[in-house]
Amino acid sequence: MPIVKFERENISVEVEEGENLRYVGLDNDVPIYCHIFKLGNCHGNGLCGTDKVQVTPSSAINPRTVAERIHLRKRPNLRLACQVEIHGDCTVTTQCGRR
Ligand code: FES
Repeated sequence: MPIVKFERENISVEVEEGENLRYVGLDNDVPIYCHIFKLGNCHGNGLCGTDKVQVTPSSAINPRTVAERIHLRKRPNLRLACQVEIHGDCTVTTQCGRR
């Protein structure tokens, strides 16, 4: 089973193959969303672009979705947590920092 390390929060979580990064973060009290976007987001539908994270290596996750190509066209190093499926060990850097 893959292990996801949330770098800034110093949390490592064992997940199921293909598990969604947004839910892994939320279930483990990781700040996927910053500020007001904790309440005002699209709940994982790829519409709001407020759940930006950096994930390495990219080989451990699925390729960018259409939503990410739209929201992140000028940010090639970022992903939307709600669009990420985990397939291998990876490290995630959130945009909000510590809880
Ligand atoms: S939760 Fe809105 S784009 Fe990911």
